[in-house]
Amino acid sequence: MGFWSALQSEAARGLTLALLLVAVVALSAAGTVAPDERRRLRLPTLLALMHFLLLVPAAFLRARESTYLIGVEVALLLFGVFAMVGFAGSLAFAVLLPRIGLRAPHILRDVVVASAALIGILVVASHRGFNLTSLIATSAVLTAVVGFSLQDTLGNIMGGLALQLDNSIRVGDWIDLDGVSGRVSEIRWRYTALETRDWETEIVPNTRLMKERVTVLGRRAGEARKWRRTIRFSSEYRFPPTQVIDAVDSSLQEIPIANVALVPRPHALLLDLGPSTCDYGLRYWLTDLAAMEPTDSEVRTRIHFALRRAGIPFSLPAQSLFVTTESDDRRAAERSLDFERRLAVLSRVDLFKSLERRDLERLTERLVDAPFARGETLTRQGAVGHWLYVVAAGTVSVRIRSDDLEREIARLNEGSFFGEMSLMTGAPRSATVVALTDVHCYRLDKPAFQEVLRDSPALAEEFARLLVERGAERERAREELTAEASRQRRQTDQRDLLQRIRGFFGLEP
Ligand code: CMP
Repeated sequence: MGFWSALQSEAARGLTLALLLVAVVALSAAGTVAPDERRRLRLPTLLALMHFLLLVPAAFLRARESTYLIGVEVALLLFGVFAMVGFAGSLAFAVLLPRIGLRAPHILRDVVVASAALIGILVVASHRGFNLTSLIATSAVLTAVVGFSLQDTLGNIMGGLALQLDNSIRVGDWIDLDGVSGRVSEIRWRYTALETRDWETEIVPNTRLMKERVTVLGRRAGEARKWRRTIRFSSEYRFPPTQVIDAVDSSLQEIPIANVALVPRPHALLLDLGPSTCDYGLRYWLTDLAAMEPTDSEVRTRIHFALRRAGIPFSLPAQSLFVTTESDDRRAAERSLDFERRLAVLSRVDLFKSLERRDLERLTERLVDAPFARGETLTRQGAVGHWLYVVAAGTVSVRIRSDDLEREIARLNEGSFFGEMSLMTGAPRSATVVALTDVHCYRLDKPAFQEVLRDSPALAEEFARLLVERGAERERAREELTAEASRQRRQTDQRDLLQRIRGFFGLEP
């Protein structure tokens, strides 16, 4: 056979013609539909060129009926199949699938293309009469050896595939892996790349992501991405937690901060009662995880200014040692100061105005400190009463409950008192009293209260008058609550009946 006719018969083979066709289609489609794909087509184009160039030596060797022909044929086959599969993969994954709205992960595409190349070689080779059985038999041993030595690589590949397919980690997620956190920028065959906030790219082998615990930051099903941060700060014990929390909360909630979620709102919590400081945490939800440090800094600045405005200093990190010489004089001075303070409070109570100084002083001696935080319950309706309370600072709300409804009947401020009814009549508490602000009370136990009443019978009259007055108010409120409850019951009955009638006649609501 002459060289030219050998060249013609080589070129007219199915593989070469099919390769030519697929190459032309893929290159022109990529040029128009998927320009990004052109870079990926460089390798198949190179392989196709190699295939076409090898046709010349193949024809030459065939014309001479050389025994070297078989080697060139194998090379032709390999280049042809690889190029063909590369072009076909490009057509399928970059042109056709996106058209029907499917975007397959890169790694899946790579696996499909590699498997197709393998199958293609086996099919074409068997067509051309190469003995595949011996090839497969020897390759089984070879595969075992290669597989064993490539265990890690294969693990990475399978890991990468699994990550892509089960969507547990996606490109764009922020993850934390053993203290390193970053944004997933790509998931490849062998590794997953993380871009950290310090502009580093961590290359994490996929097997690590499969084996170790990975935290996906700020992800919660059905919610927009936001990550809770806690900024710690401390203040001295002499400032009540409610005051510190209010100051910080109002400053952070009033004016929004960039990258801080509006809902849930930022808020402060008392995290610990330390040996010398109250330790707080300001919690906020960060919406852009890349902006963690600047946002933390902005939040800390706000806390700093909020506390300064409220006159609350940060606690000193150093330990302070307060040395005071204890002496009888000092102790007496302290006691007398405290006593005067209590006496001043008691003398502001209207009801005690008629008491002699001597009685007032005796009463003052029996007072016990009772501070309460905002929201705490001081007495509960129906409970047994042990104390009479005098409000020294703050505001409390007196509430009664009837027919499952509750209502406030009075607010008491500094100089008022409550809890007298149970102590005087032995009846259970007639109302619930709740602190609306931080409240400082002094309380008096039953024996002390009875002693005062015994010594000042006029006071008992005053109390009795007050008892009637307060009782009448409660009665009025109770009647209103009963009326309100029966009105609500009527409304519910009416709604139920209407629903039943609608159901019976099949009417639309
Ligand atoms: P006591 O019943 O021991 O406990 C609840 C207290 O709430 C009660 O004593 C009163 O001191 C107070 N209280 C009850 N009713 C009124 C009212 N109408 N106005 C103000 N205080 C009240």
